[in-house]
Amino acid sequence: MKILVTGGAGFIGSHVVDGYIAAGYKVIIVDNLSTGKRENIHPAAKFYQIEIRSAQLEEIFQLENPDIVNHHAAQISVPFSVKNPQEDGDINALGFLNVLNCCRENKIKKVILISSGGAIYGEADEYPTSENYAPRPLSPYAIHKLISEYYLAFYNHQYGLDYTVLRYSNVYGTRQIPHGEAGVVSIFITNLREGIKSNLYAFPDEPDGMVRDYVFVKEVVKANILALNKGSLDYINIGTGLETTTGQLYSMISDLMNVNEKPVRAEARPGDIKRSCLNIEKAEKIWIGNLKYLCNKRSRKRSIFLLIAVN
Ligand SMILES: NC(=O)c1ccc[n+]([C@@H]2O[C@H](COP(=O)([O-])OP(=O)(O)OC[C@H]3O[C@@H](n4cnc5c(N)ncnc54)[C@H](O)[C@@H]3O)[C@@H](O)[C@H]2O)c1
Repeated sequence: MKILVTGGAGFIGSHVVDGYIAAGYKVIIVDNLSTGKRENIHPAAKFYQIEIRSAQLEEIFQLENPDIVNHHAAQISVPFSVKNPQEDGDINALGFLNVLNCCRENKIKKVILISSGGAIYGEADEYPTSENYAPRPLSPYAIHKLISEYYLAFYNHQYGLDYTVLRYSNVYGTRQIPHGEAGVVSIFITNLREGIKSNLYAFPDEPDGMVRDYVFVKEVVKANILALNKGSLDYINIGTGLETTTGQLYSMISDLMNVNEKPVRAEARPGDIKRSCLNIEKAEKIWIGNLKYLCNKRSRKRSIFLLIAVN
């Protein structure tokens, strides 16, 4: 089976590519290297440095004839999307539409779309938030992720295209870029190592920082492998169901690194939401407990410890 992974040179996409190749699949990567890196690319993958919005994408589909498309390419910064909603929509909604048109033209068997459970639900009334909760996105990034989900449902309805949507919580792991506005685990580790003060963004009524659900990239890779054959026409949260404030995360990392450096309190940024945490019962049910051990604070501490060791 041949899988085309968009964004396969990026943080999460490159781990997914590694997982697919280790599982014996052939992989084609499409990435414009805007944030992705050449060194992340698995040597056994075939790489095309192109833009998902370009007409050239259709040529790659015709040439490679993939069976499955896994769509990770995106503009990932929420604050950027607030400042530049049009550009975010151009990449994240219209870019995906171009991918979908190529899928339709080339009879792709299935699309795995990466959405954001950490963003699309907005400030929910239900925690941990399940897939049945009606999303109320509060940033252009979240809106365009949700639009992509709607387009996918339309392409299934109209053209019979199969799909699985994976709604990630906050992912951390190796290769995450420490500069920029996303990837707080990587930012804290890098800053603590280099003696740089970290910002701890917080709302006035939530002084210890925002509540997030942090999931290790290796678990996300497993979900992407399982999604090749399961979860048809379904929307599945991928997270841990564990709530952690940014302050707790900072303390855990600084303790593990044995660095006594306090963060600087800063105001929440445009588009930030106060709380997000995903209900992962559906993932556990569909994938028969494969993700169960995600819900374990000790395993999180261990994975962050390992991350510090290799960073
Ligand atoms: N990091 C998280 O915590 C998180 C949480 C929820 C969802 N996601 C989603 O997971 C996916 C991967 O995110 P990531 O954290 O690995 O980010 P990343 O920036 O490392 O990866 C995105 C990749 O897409 C590529 N790309 C961006 N725009 C492109 C374009 N127009 N054409 C071709 N390639 C393009 C980049 O070069 C990069 O390699 C994204 O869809 C993101 O929205 C991430």
